[in-house]
Amino acid sequence: MKRILVTGSYGQIGTELIGALRQKYGGENVIATGRKKPPAVLKEDGPYLQLDVMDTNQLHAMLVDQDIDIIIHNASLLSGTGEKNPQLAFHTNIVGAYNVLEATRILGLDQVMIPSSIAAFGPSTPKDNTPNDVIMRPTTAYGVSKVFIELWGEYYVKRYGLDFRSLRYPGIISSEALPGGGTTDYAVEIFYEALKNKRYTSFLDKGTYLPMMYMPDCIKCTIDLIEAPAENLVHRSFNITAMSFAPEEIAAEIKKHIPEFEISYEPDFRQQIAESWPKSIDDSAARDEWGWKPDYDLPAMVKDMLERLSKKLGVSY
Ligand code: SER
Repeated sequence: MKRILVTGSYGQIGTELIGALRQKYGGENVIATGRKKPPAVLKEDGPYLQLDVMDTNQLHAMLVDQDIDIIIHNASLLSGTGEKNPQLAFHTNIVGAYNVLEATRILGLDQVMIPSSIAAFGPSTPKDNTPNDVIMRPTTAYGVSKVFIELWGEYYVKRYGLDFRSLRYPGIISSEALPGGGTTDYAVEIFYEALKNKRYTSFLDKGTYLPMMYMPDCIKCTIDLIEAPAENLVHRSFNITAMSFAPEEIAAEIKKHIPEFEISYEPDFRQQIAESWPKSIDDSAARDEWGWKPDYDLPAMVKDMLERLSKKLGVSY
């Protein structure tokens, strides 16, 4: 059985990825790590350790001590937070990923997975059905860091035979942990506000289309790409999507379940970030090379989110 270490385990994706990986690979074989101390109340489903990837000694020691084969490096600042503090984004996202790729190379790990994002694209990228291989000139610190990760990772594949893999996640919608400081966060916040207050003020404007995905699909594509036979992979960084919508469309879908729900719009600095990204994504490379297919479209996602979140918040609708 492979032993997997995950960074950023207490983030939006990590929180749910850890459970799914542990079910599949066994609790003891999945080492959940985060820069901060593990939260006091944790499911006792396997080890949770503190790890700061900026400390390369600690990183190398832990990979050796825990006998790790695969590292999934999820620790990252998102787009909004990155614009507030570009220098911190450089350190966390670029230096952090460099340290992880170097550790993978030096220690000879079997595989390294580092997420990329739709943010790796920029204003000069074609916006509709954005192809996998296309111009990438992002205009955010976060986007620049993701292009670095893709290119440095792919360079290590070519130069050192490293097994680097990356997914360009769209906005991820989930009911467990909140996203921290992204441009697509509105599509999560809207559910909390719809259930609690029956109204939501969106920080993205009407008509702002972005590619999105529900967490079960995010977990599925992550595990599927880890497990894809290397010989099938022509690419190493993949476009991935499940749906594409604008704020008024997700609001209309929520309204089908909560008729009193109302949305209003007060775009902030994230509007400009959103406008620099694709509206929809062509993920045919992922479909062709490792059989990607999402399970959730907008109506299925909204129904499931409302069911889960209402239980979690203890409110009915
Ligand atoms: N969800 C991310 C963000 O909004 C995009 O990868 O920053």
